[in-house]
Amino acid sequence: MSSSTNQAKRKILITSALPYANGPIHLGHLVEYIQTDIWARFQKMRGHNCIYVCADDAHGTPIMLRAQSEGITPEALIARVSEEHQTDFAGFNIGFDQYHSTNSPENKHFASYIYTQLKEQGHISRKTISQFYDPEKAMFLPDRFIKGTCPKCGTEDQYGDNCEACGATYSPTELINPKSAVSGATPIEKDTDHLFFELSHFEEMLKDWTHKGHLQTQIANKLDEWFESGLRGWDISRDAPYFGFEIPGETDKYFYVWLDAPVGYMASFKAYCDKTGTSFDDFWAQDSDAEVYHFIGKDIIYFHALFWPAMLSGAGFRTPNAIFAHGFLTVDGQKMSKSRGTFIMAITYLKHLNPEYLRYYFAAKLSSRIDDIDLNLEDFAQRVNSDLVGKVVNIASRCAGFVVKKFDGKLATTWSDRAAGLVAQAAAQADKIADLYEARDYGQAMREIMAIADLANEYIDETAPWVLAKQEGKEAELHESVTVGINLFRIIMTYLAPVLPETAAKSKDFLQLDVMDWNSVQTPLLGHQISAFKALMQRVDKDAIDKMIEDSRQSLAAPKATEAPKVVAKSKAEKPEKTASTQATGFEALAPEVTIEDFLKLDLRVAKIINAEAVPEAEKLLKLTLDLGFEQRQVFAGIKSAYQAEDLIGRTTVMVANLKPRKMRFGMSEGMVLAPGPGGADIFLLTPDEGALPGMRVK
Ligand code: MSP
Ligand code: ZN
Repeated sequence: MSSSTNQAKRKILITSALPYANGPIHLGHLVEYIQTDIWARFQKMRGHNCIYVCADDAHGTPIMLRAQSEGITPEALIARVSEEHQTDFAGFNIGFDQYHSTNSPENKHFASYIYTQLKEQGHISRKTISQFYDPEKAMFLPDRFIKGTCPKCGTEDQYGDNCEACGATYSPTELINPKSAVSGATPIEKDTDHLFFELSHFEEMLKDWTHKGHLQTQIANKLDEWFESGLRGWDISRDAPYFGFEIPGETDKYFYVWLDAPVGYMASFKAYCDKTGTSFDDFWAQDSDAEVYHFIGKDIIYFHALFWPAMLSGAGFRTPNAIFAHGFLTVDGQKMSKSRGTFIMAITYLKHLNPEYLRYYFAAKLSSRIDDIDLNLEDFAQRVNSDLVGKVVNIASRCAGFVVKKFDGKLATTWSDRAAGLVAQAAAQADKIADLYEARDYGQAMREIMAIADLANEYIDETAPWVLAKQEGKEAELHESVTVGINLFRIIMTYLAPVLPETAAKSKDFLQLDVMDWNSVQTPLLGHQISAFKALMQRVDKDAIDKMIEDSRQSLAAPKATEAPKVVAKSKAEKPEKTASTQATGFEALAPEVTIEDFLKLDLRVAKIINAEAVPEAEKLLKLTLDLGFEQRQVFAGIKSAYQAEDLIGRTTVMVANLKPRKMRFGMSEGMVLAPGPGGADIFLLTPDEGALPGMRVK
């Protein structure tokens, strides 16, 4: 949308996906909340009536079981997590207008209302299905709470929906030797009636909707594939016991968490309406002229681009203007990992680093596409230091001192054509940069803004106020130079305000501005009073990054003994990380006593993993190439269930170096690596301290 058409005041409702109420906010989540918050702040600065809402996604089996394992009610769990989430979000300056919960009266109302509408119009059907049932816990088991041996490749300890070793997908009833992950009991198959939302009734509507510019092209293409394979009924009910809303007109049946989750957007907005006197219908009625946008991650497109528009249209509400999906976060090119210390929680980041750094870094990397984005920690420090500290803040720090000392804090009242032209040129970028924000092309917007900062610094270098200040009769020139510098700084900071709300607020104080909205830059600051300059932002301290990584490794790799055992279940989007909670399976009986002489027969060495490959024919083995400094060894290690081969390359570990080589089916194994753990995903390759170099003996 071009900004010239943006003059009219728009009504805009923006949402981010609702985080699950059973885990902490981490930097991956923050890609989304920061992306959305920048857009919301931008729209507000443009003077639009923009409302940004979110909520905790509080229902479902994982939350119910998590509360049980902590010995508390689900309500107590979700209340605590809600506080934690809101503290984390506030720490990153995510400016929600309303933060709610899906376990709220508003949500119960809308979920029931939408369901009833769909039912009355014949879009709900009933089918008997056969599902796994845990006879000990007396509950039906979702796929992710069943483990067993993969029917395709025979790898043990796989989840009920797909195999992590060979990638096969199957239904849990196909697993060999299935076990309940909740109780360990062997599940039985049991018939039960479920309710289905007939998505195929909406095929025409959805095919039309997905090609009307509501979706990114990459997503519209994905949807075409889904249409081709046919739209199937969506199972929207779950049997008791379940933490959620009871389905009207049924006994012991609950809405599946994903039914009431997107309804949570409406519920949160309703709570906002009640708080502020805003009209709900203005935004959600079929004929609404307001705009509704959902920011989500690429893993939950199906729910937002198919189920949700179908539910809304079936129940007589308007559909969203657009779904904006983003990619996933990697850290240093790899999936976030607890053992590497790159699974960084929001709270851990905030202990060590300024939130504005991350907001800027993500902005610099974000576009309107759904590609994954990488947080490269070296690049992060370098980019923030050179752009924000070296270029932007530097402009103010180079000029403000002279304004205060030489001119009592007052900017010049008049200036030359050249000076006026330079400032006007920066102000003239406002539309172009606004269009980039509007299109979520934040990366390009940051580049345009930094180009203005480069021009400002060149101007200051050229006019050299520090030289003028020492010369007689150059007051007017000096005054003009620093007035231009401060004006350019003000324009740049205004353009950056959606990204850097805290630094912008400090700048607004320092510049004594009444407003800092998008249009304010069109009026230059002449004869204007400013305050003394205070440091606006420190450089990124590389040590702080190292400490954050170390902190992440420690707080996540080894939970305290007091921590309640976790229910072993796969999170939706990620491979389960090794939790170390190990369900009391890690305690084996002690081996017979040995003497120190016996022990010294073992030659334990520090070894660096220089290559790692999966052995395709073997369920459990990885082939490692280990560097001892003086020679290299090939070792087959049974750790495939816990590690991706490529994640291990570059890691240092400990090996038994004088173990008699063994001939295996796949080749010689020349030693053994040391790794505690009961098995499955819970195997932890030993990592010595950084000072330990390959070849050193471990005694
Ligand atoms: N509760 C659902 C959303 C319901 S919306 C009606 C959910 N929750 S979540 O906590 O798993 O994720 C919340 C959002 O964060 C999702 O949009 C998800 O894609 C995003 N991300 C979670 N991990 C992420 C990364 N590692 N990287 C980028 N985004 C990630 O899904
Ligand atoms: Zn398999």
